[in-house]
Formats: sequence, C-alpha cells, structure tokens
Amino acid sequence: MKKVITYGSFDLFHEGHYNILKRAKALGDYLIVGVTTEQYDESRGKLNIVNSLDERIDNVRKTGFADQIIVEDHVGQKVEDVQKYDIDVFTVGSDWLGAFDYLKDYCDVVYLERTKNISSTMLRSKENPIIRIGVIGTGRIANRFVPEAKFVSGTIIHSVYNPHIESAERFARKFELEVYTDDLERFFENVDAVYVASPHETHYAYTKAALEHGCHVLCEKPLVFQKAQAEELFSLAHEKDRVLMEGIKTAYCPGFNQLLGVVKSGTIGQIRDVEACFTRLTKEGLREMTDTVYGGGFTEFGSYTLLPILKLMGTEYKEIRFDSVKAENGIDLYTKVSFVYDRGFALSKSGVGVKSEGQLLIAGTQGYILAESPWWLTKSFEVRYEDSKRIEKYAMRYLGYGLRYEISDFAYTINRHEGRGYKLTEEESIAMAGIMEQFLAQRKEVRDI
Ligand code: CTP
Repeated sequence: MKKVITYGSFDLFHEGHYNILKRAKALGDYLIVGVTTEQYDESRGKLNIVNSLDERIDNVRKTGFADQIIVEDHVGQKVEDVQKYDIDVFTVGSDWLGAFDYLKDYCDVVYLERTKNISSTMLRSKENPIIRIGVIGTGRIANRFVPEAKFVSGTIIHSVYNPHIESAERFARKFELEVYTDDLERFFENVDAVYVASPHETHYAYTKAALEHGCHVLCEKPLVFQKAQAEELFSLAHEKDRVLMEGIKTAYCPGFNQLLGVVKSGTIGQIRDVEACFTRLTKEGLREMTDTVYGGGFTEFGSYTLLPILKLMGTEYKEIRFDSVKAENGIDLYTKVSFVYDRGFALSKSGVGVKSEGQLLIAGTQGYILAESPWWLTKSFEVRYEDSKRIEKYAMRYLGYGLRYEISDFAYTINRHEGRGYKLTEEESIAMAGIMEQFLAQRKEVRDI
C-alpha cells in the first residue's frame, strides 16, 4: 500500500484545498492529512486563522479524500510523522517548492501545482475588509507597534496623529505612512480603528473621542486611572458597537496563556499565592520619573504585575494594601501591593528606582510554577514540586516585540469573530483601573513612607 501525507491549515476551506487533497490522494492508496493547531500557526507567524481546529478538520473530512487526519502542532513533526506512519510520498502545493526537500531522506517529495487565484489569505481579506489603523502618539511604544502590525494580515497602519505636527511628520516619514496630522477630526474620519499610545493621562479623552467617532480602540496600558472612567468607556463601546481593548501585551501572548492553562488545569492544586515582580531602573528625566501625577513605578509596570494576579485570583479581593518607597518629588520608586483573598494571597512588586528579580511565582497546594524574568514575555516556565528532582519545563516561542499577538486579537475581534475576549476581560480592565485609582489617591495623601 502506497501511503501519502500532506499538511495545511485548511482555513476557510476553498477550491485550492479540495484540489490538492484530491491530487494527493491520487498519488497513492492511503492519504494522511495533517491539520495545524492554532497555536502552531501562531508560532510560525500565521496569526489570523478564522476557523477552529474542529471546523478545519471537519472540512477536510467532508471531502472524503482523507483516510486519516492527524493534528500538526510542532516544528519537526513532519520528520517524525513520515517515519512513524511509514510514508512513501510527502506532498504539498508548489508555493512550498524546495521547502521540504529535507524529507527526501525518508520518502518521495512531490510539489503539486497550486490552484491559481485562491487562498485563505485572499478569502480572509474578502470577508473582512482591511482594517485601517491610526496611531495616536509617536513615543517609544508607538515606534514598536508599527513594525509589529506588519505581521498581522488584514490590517494596515494608515496614519498618525500628534498635536505636535513635526513629531507626526517625523514618525510618518520613518514608517512611510501616507497621512500624518494634528487635526483629530480629520484623523478619525479616515480610519476604522485607533491605537492610543499617547501619555497615560490622555488615554481617557482620546479613547472616548475615538469611540464617539465610531472607531474601534486598542489603548495602551493603563487604560485609565479611574474605575468610573473605565466603566464609562466600555459602556460607550457597547453602545457604539465598537471593540475596546486594553493593550497589555502579556495578556495576548501564547506562552502566558499556556501558563494560565497549566495552572487552571489543576497541575499545582489549589492556587494560594501569586507573586509578580517587574522592575526597571529608569533614567532621571524620563516621563516615568518626572510626571508627579501619573509617573512612577506602579502606574508604569503595575498593569503587568496585576495581570496574573487578577487572572488567577480574580477581581474580588477582600483587602488591598499599598506600600511605596518614594522619590523626593512624590513618585513611587518601588511599590508593593498586597492582596488578601478568601483562600489566598497575592503580591505585586513594581519599580523604576529599585531593582529586584523579575519573576512570577504561583504557589499551589501541590506544587508551584516559576516563570523567570522576562516572565511578561513568557518564553518559558517551570512546574516544580515537593520532590525537587521533579521539574516540568515548558518553552514557547515569542515573536518580535510580541505586540503582534494583541494586534491579531484586536483585528480578529473587530471582524466579529468571537472567542478571544477571555484573554483580558472588561471586568479585569475595570478592576485594574480601580486599583490604580486607589493607589494614586493614597500616594497623593501620604508623601513619605
Ligand atoms: N494550496 C493549493 N492551492 C491554493 C491554496 C493552497 O494547492 N490555491 C495548497 C497549499 O500549497 C498546501 C495546502 O493547500 O499544500 C494547504 O494550504 P494552506 O496553507 O492551508 O492554504 P492557503 O490558502 O495557502 O492558506 P494561507 O493563505 O493562509 O497561507
């Protein structure tokens, strides 16, 4: 019996897929089709898969050509599969010409001519028109955002707004954007979505104005500093039927979501303590150090450290306490936020003027998880137990600056696909704004520790 194998994402199943499966089957007697998982596609930069794995498998099955369907979830799996299934022929479309010649050590490799003028990418952009994103602000994070957006198909960075026109022009020239402006009305009129990357205290006004103009909004963290403002913005987004997302990049990255999955599946038992730390010694003179109202360590990095706490322990804490070491101008150089929950504790440590070990530690009744610095990118973590010899290590890919994952989820949600909102919920964003509010009120009152 001649065995053939082929692989693909088979998203939005189309004629090209049908043709390749038919011809693959004709190459032998038994056809195995490998369908990729969403996580694997993400890790190789295919971020906008629309159909679930179930739906994609189902569509392959319906053709009747596949004798067996398997799931492809990691690099190197093809080499294992061709040996494991004793494959005679490996085949894919001609768009991959040469890419799988390394399999010739094990079987025949056949590149079948690709069906012209059709692809999942094409269908995705037909179904969902390109999202024109406008960027508000031209600072450090905006400079990272634009190159990352290039990895997310279905989006383009259309324009940039800055009240200082020279900064907008410089930014537009650097990233070859056609439109730059200091006219906010004009800016909103020509975009579908807005990325707010302006100074913290301006987030509320820009986000509100963008939503009122019918734009979807991805707003850099922290969204706002008052709970009532966060509630107001989310209810405005509902009223206008627009997407509002807070851009805490860790929330959307694959490794962090895998870590949450491992914890939630009970691997370390009941969670009793979450401790998250993020510190970066910051140069004098930068906004974080000089803005006496909204600067400081907690407003800068607290969104990261609060994220695993709220995701794992919930938003219903019983007690919260803030302790800060402050600079002379009143900003916090280092802040500890201690939480008491019904059945456990949590601690957030963040700072711009104190250096500590940036780790995430999750303690449970049967073991603990340690994600070392930079845990906020979550490239790896370990599950450890009482028996110190027993350690399970996890390693994940994290591409570029990681902003592509949040942009991908933003585009996915705008395109009316449900199911990714769980990564950072409205309730969690509102709770964070509430915590920031309590912190700032207290910091204002008590100048010295
Ligand atoms: N394929 C084909 N003809 C097309 C499109 C795809 O023969 N017009 C083949 C690919 O070469 C591959 C298989 O179908 O062997 C599965 O491809 P997949 O990547 O899932 O489909 P694409 O439409 O190419 O997807 P995308 O646009 O997301 O890259």
